Amino acid sequence: MRQTRLLPADPASVREAARLLAEGALVAFPTETVYGLGARASSDKAVAAIFAAKARPQFNPLIVHVADIAEARKLGRFDARAEELAQCFWPGPLTLVLPRTETCDASLLASAGLDSIALRLPSHPVALSLLKACGFPVAAPSANASGQISPTAALHVQESLNGRIDLILDGGPCAVGVESTVIDLTGKTAAILRPGGITPEELEPILGPIKITGANAKGLLSPGQLESHYAPHLPVRLDVTQAQDGEAFLAFGPLVPQGCAHILNLSPLGDLAEAAANLFAMLRQLDRPEWKAINVAPIPERGLGLAINDRLRRAAAPRIQASS
Ligand code: TXA
Ligand code: MG
Repeated sequence: MRQTRLLPADPASVREAARLLAEGALVAFPTETVYGLGARASSDKAVAAIFAAKARPQFNPLIVHVADIAEARKLGRFDARAEELAQCFWPGPLTLVLPRTETCDASLLASAGLDSIALRLPSHPVALSLLKACGFPVAAPSANASGQISPTAALHVQESLNGRIDLILDGGPCAVGVESTVIDLTGKTAAILRPGGITPEELEPILGPIKITGANAKGLLSPGQLESHYAPHLPVRLDVTQAQDGEAFLAFGPLVPQGCAHILNLSPLGDLAEAAANLFAMLRQLDRPEWKAINVAPIPERGLGLAINDRLRRAAAPRIQASS
């Protein structure tokens, strides 16, 4: 494939993107969380092409994006909890893992052979107009090569996947900046598989106490999960408060170490939403060969801090094998 075209998202480019997706092509598009790499969900071939473009391990299932709740109900079995969560948080950064319906026509590859399906109705206006123009569900993981940092701007997608996909729709930077919260509703007790844009504090009034199974407080992942996920090239060290010679520093809040030349601040005021929106872009900016490591200040383990710390632990994890 030649250079991938990057078009500003407008009604004409959105129509073209929908036409390409209908034909089985791969199109990157903005969502409120990160850019997604979309393919027609019912096409085994198109979904397989996502795995090939990302060089992603095939056993990792994908999120299927829908234009409205009615479309989602055709694919996943909604119980009362799922209905209420969809009413409260859709469109938005919440992904529901539900049992597949008997009539679900999404590729089994998108479910990685499981009998469940991950569904999300995004709130970004470009994503919504694209899904409406398509008229069919779109499977979309984050639009980065496997193991790299998730893209929060169209240029990040181009740097990572140029020549391997058909089109990138540019809708500006992503407002939320970390991926959606993935919540598993296939069992009696709801479980958070991945902390993300909707916090446990927001979910608990509806669901009661929720298990967080993706990563425990120490960042240890259950066996079988791939640790190194959001990986910069430089080593990443967490909970650092002192500047180190020749190393970059990612700060949070007003307390910034002195004597550090290469410093970026996720949020000088200590606002976790601002920090989430800046996280991936700042990690990219600091990930330069002239520095030896990226040191990261402590981030509070509450609200969006859960999702931020989850991604940071993965960025700092030993580079065993890469995932999405
Ligand atoms: O914000 C987001 O969620 C972005 C944007 C593009 O929507 N998408 C995204 O997709 O992050 P991806 O493929 O990188 O992450 C999908 C997550 C993975 O952690 C995967 O294991 C989980 O969802 N997942 C998908 N289907 C599942 C299923 N049937 N059962 C359990 N986990 C599932
Ligand atoms: Mg990803």
